[in-house]
Amino acid sequence: MLSLDLTQPDFFRNPYPYYARMRKLGRPVWLPHQQDSLSEGVLLFSRYDDATEIFRQTSAISKNIRSVRPPGAGSAFDLHMLHRDGEDHLRLRRLVGDYFSPQAIQRLQPAMEEMADALLAALAHKAEFDFIAEFAERMPLLMTARLIGVPPEDMAHVRAWSLALGEGFDSLLATPEVLAKQKQALSEFMAYIGRLTRSGSRADESLLGFLIEASKREQLAPDELAAMVGFLLFAGHETTISLIGNGLWLLLSHPEQWHMLREAPALMAGAVEEILRFESPEQRTSFRLTKAPLEINGITVEAGKQIGVIIGSVNRDESIFRNPDVFDIRRTPNRHLAFGLGLHNCLGKTLARVEANVALTRVLDHFPGLRLRQGEPRWRRNSFFRGLEELAVER
Ligand code: HEM
Repeated sequence: MLSLDLTQPDFFRNPYPYYARMRKLGRPVWLPHQQDSLSEGVLLFSRYDDATEIFRQTSAISKNIRSVRPPGAGSAFDLHMLHRDGEDHLRLRRLVGDYFSPQAIQRLQPAMEEMADALLAALAHKAEFDFIAEFAERMPLLMTARLIGVPPEDMAHVRAWSLALGEGFDSLLATPEVLAKQKQALSEFMAYIGRLTRSGSRADESLLGFLIEASKREQLAPDELAAMVGFLLFAGHETTISLIGNGLWLLLSHPEQWHMLREAPALMAGAVEEILRFESPEQRTSFRLTKAPLEINGITVEAGKQIGVIIGSVNRDESIFRNPDVFDIRRTPNRHLAFGLGLHNCLGKTLARVEANVALTRVLDHFPGLRLRQGEPRWRRNSFFRGLEELAVER
């Protein structure tokens, strides 16, 4: 069986030729885990049709990560909605659903615009800067703090913990040192959340205050409260940073499309979709375990196996997307799966879309003549999350 070899020198710069070979092969590939607590590896599917088949399953696949943890292992963080099944998943998702509705996100838009303008105004005196550190990271961190209701000054710590958690997700690269760092970060992160939630009821209308009250009403258990706050803090910023950073890279490296947006800003919504497809911030799905033997487009997987979808590959599937390796902000239709699909599809998708739209539109307004300073940016060495480490730009 072909196994996913992330040690290839070019993989992080450009994983797409490798994914194309997987799709051609027509069989899933094996990604061994370094950590052995969660089974020996995961079987990854790379075609669009495989992905829709997997996302459609409701009873044959479990997302309950606790079921594979050895007794006593794991942390409260395991109890977030993405790793739960059935009624528990629905209860947790419904509890916070209103905060992520299109109407709620629309109400946040003026705050996003104000935030983007303030961050960009502060860069006005700089002839050159690193877009990732100076803007792409800051805006989602501040927006997440605002949405959830945590002090913005805490977000530097949250970012450091998230990066350590994200490194550990990349199973193949997760050496014992990386995993030890992840464990330490998770324990600090959960201790921080414990302090936040113990600070009691909050007078404001933040999501944190709402969740603390809900836990007093026993709508979620104390560990579920911690997991919910932790997961939303993490998910709220991690991939949105990449969406904004990958987006500016793609637009500036396709100057004709950057100019097109200057002429017709309404094209930005389509541009955000194409960025999501072309450089998907989350390249693979999270934990999934077969509960019964499962047939996926002619391949039978036994019960008790971990499986996943390579979203980055699915979104370049030539049987669905015409010229999949061409970046085209006017692509239509664009049925990418960057936010997953089915029961666990991304709860924050409207927030991410609107935030990226506002961010990139404001960058275009403030700095219409922005250019790349180097040919190739530096990609993070992470095959799970795809984002830039640095993006040097000049005015
Ligand atoms: C570009 C930005 C984002 C991308 C690409 C993204 C991607 C995804 C994907 C692929 C999944 C499903 C994973 C799976 O099925 O294994 C997911 C789930 C989820 N995302 Fe996002 N996400 C983004 C932003 C956000 C934001 C801003 C939030 C807000 C806090 C968020 C909250 C969630 C939640 C709560 C789930 C779990 C839903 C459930 O289990 O029912 N995401 N996301």
